[in-house]
Amino acid sequence: MELESVQIPNFLSEDRVDVVSKFYFEVCEILGCKVHEITFNNITSKVDYVSGTNYEDFDYRYCPSIEKQYSDDKVINYKKIPEDKIKDINTDWIPEMIDHLNEEFQKINRKGKICTFVIFNLPNPVQIHTDGNDIKNKRGKRNVFNPVFKREEYFPSYKKYTHQGLITIQNDDLRNGTIVFNQTFPYSVYYANHENNLDRKKSVITFLKDDDIFRFDEKIENYTYEYMSDEEYKLLPDMNREQLFGLSLDKKLMFMDKGTLVSWQDGKFHTTIPMKKEWGNRIMLQYEGVDE
Ligand SMILES: [Fe+2]
Repeated sequence: MELESVQIPNFLSEDRVDVVSKFYFEVCEILGCKVHEITFNNITSKVDYVSGTNYEDFDYRYCPSIEKQYSDDKVINYKKIPEDKIKDINTDWIPEMIDHLNEEFQKINRKGKICTFVIFNLPNPVQIHTDGNDIKNKRGKRNVFNPVFKREEYFPSYKKYTHQGLITIQNDDLRNGTIVFNQTFPYSVYYANHENNLDRKKSVITFLKDDDIFRFDEKIENYTYEYMSDEEYKLLPDMNREQLFGLSLDKKLMFMDKGTLVSWQDGKFHTTIPMKKEWGNRIMLQYEGVDE
């Protein structure tokens, strides 16, 4: 059954928001830059809520001066917070926060446990994409449209993702939000119908204009084969009409004030708005849930 896309104000209390905010700015302070992503690695939620959640460590990425570099699909130039600095930062809140969120999600009937937990403060627009399971060759390029891959080339270690979303920690611009579409794909892919560049990054997982909707033995579900209606399109003023071909609007979810949750079914195509570059701080706690 499809999960409703929701926007819930005050999902996280002000006290809890402040804890995350303080942590974020402490990390920025230590590293001397506006950090774009802090990833908490190896989240392991136990079945028993009370017994707690562990995380192994965290790292940071994307200071403005740092371009991501990859080797064998791993980011190689991310930095871990230096050991001697970690002890100066309060990290006790992390497992407790994850447990708390797991409980709160149960209350609103959103199943699964948090497996991805990241603080984002991204300065660039995000393309239309899906999250969830990564295919094995996702950073590869291809030289034909409508490529056919053998299962062993792409098949990932599979988890059953349930819902995903963002909790606002600080939002400096009320136009910030996420657009969620009705279309889905079971792996993490991009949708770029306004482009036809096979040399672009990650073209293996990108649907370009001359591609059909089939790939990795799957297809884009609910594809409309037509332009978005005027009624829906007028809600997305700074998006490209060509880019939206085949898609229809599920919900426009706004980040609003701190504590707001926006959440949708994992696997749905989505993107951030506005499609411009700088917007001050847009500090978000991002999560994905999986069924155990
Ligand atoms: Fe996403």
